[in-house]
Amino acid sequence: MKRMTVYLIIAGVTGLSLSGCGFSREREQASSLKIGISVYDQYDTFVSEEISRLKSYAQEMEQEWDMTITLEVVDASQNQLTQNDQMDDFIKRGFDIACINLVDRTDASTIIEKARSADVPVIFFNRELVEEDLERWDKLYYVGADAFESGILQGEILADACEEDFSSIDKNGDGILQYVMLEGEAGHQDSIVRTLYVIDTIKERGYRVEKLGDEIANWNRAQAEAKMNQFWKSFGEQIEVVLTNNDDMALGAVDALKKSCGTRAEARTAGTPWPVIIGIDGTEVGLEAVQSKELLGTVLNDSKGQAEGMLELAHSVVFGTELPEEIELLDNRYIRLPYQKVTYENVNQIIWDMQMVTK
Ligand code: GAL
Repeated sequence: MKRMTVYLIIAGVTGLSLSGCGFSREREQASSLKIGISVYDQYDTFVSEEISRLKSYAQEMEQEWDMTITLEVVDASQNQLTQNDQMDDFIKRGFDIACINLVDRTDASTIIEKARSADVPVIFFNRELVEEDLERWDKLYYVGADAFESGILQGEILADACEEDFSSIDKNGDGILQYVMLEGEAGHQDSIVRTLYVIDTIKERGYRVEKLGDEIANWNRAQAEAKMNQFWKSFGEQIEVVLTNNDDMALGAVDALKKSCGTRAEARTAGTPWPVIIGIDGTEVGLEAVQSKELLGTVLNDSKGQAEGMLELAHSVVFGTELPEEIELLDNRYIRLPYQKVTYENVNQIIWDMQMVTK
């Protein structure tokens, strides 16, 4: 049975059909843009922030482009077969283009074949498929970021802090950083690459590291809390650094520490050394935790830029118009937004830039 949850329709469009000969609709006919979006899991914090930014930008651009934009967002609930059915539904109902946040990034072929036979272009986002899959048809695109860059920047945040005051991080004074790692999903490009590059970067900057533990917590705060509890039971105050593949898992580690030894300030008063914790994403809660110094830092995964890039690309592909100059379409297929380091020093500026201050 098809499990589809529709949780957003910005505006309804009736009577829209794809042109039989190619997908670019004439500009004069352009009074609507209908986009079907499937997310791998609607409870993923970063992805849901990206979707809310997409909604806001679509509302803004309806005026600018003088058209009705319909965004229909459905949740694949971590099931690739459900997502394949959702693609069928988008096609059947005459959507102009689909934006797909793949459940299984190694299993894009069914969606690609469906899209190609119905001539409905697809923008994949956030979960990057292999290049050979993306090359299977010229109306397939990817919007995201370069995962290795986030690993490097996370490593730089730690190395910068070590340069400033190594002894406050190397609590036992042995000259080595004892760390635990909380990883995202097994097989996800961001988990694999971030885990590798953060450590390489720290070592390249001249610091010695010792891994005490490494666990998968699937991007999830509660799972990360449970894993951090185990780490704390096994290694306790030996842990000097907690590296995580995303903010939700960094916050899961914070939750575990708070339950074991109170807030960072309370622990300090009691003489318990809190480890430094670093995330990636710059979600709203992640940035707040940098402001309150619970996290040493995070790396901004530009959900705003990615959402805007996705909508601009959808518009350009459907109507055959040029992309705005500031958006670069690499190899005619990829839009990649840069990551940015976030620490206590620049967090307020980043919050401002991400336009969260108005909330
Ligand atoms: C990553 C992000 C994670 C999670 C994941 C889902 O880019 O950092 O927090 O959202 O994508 O695919």
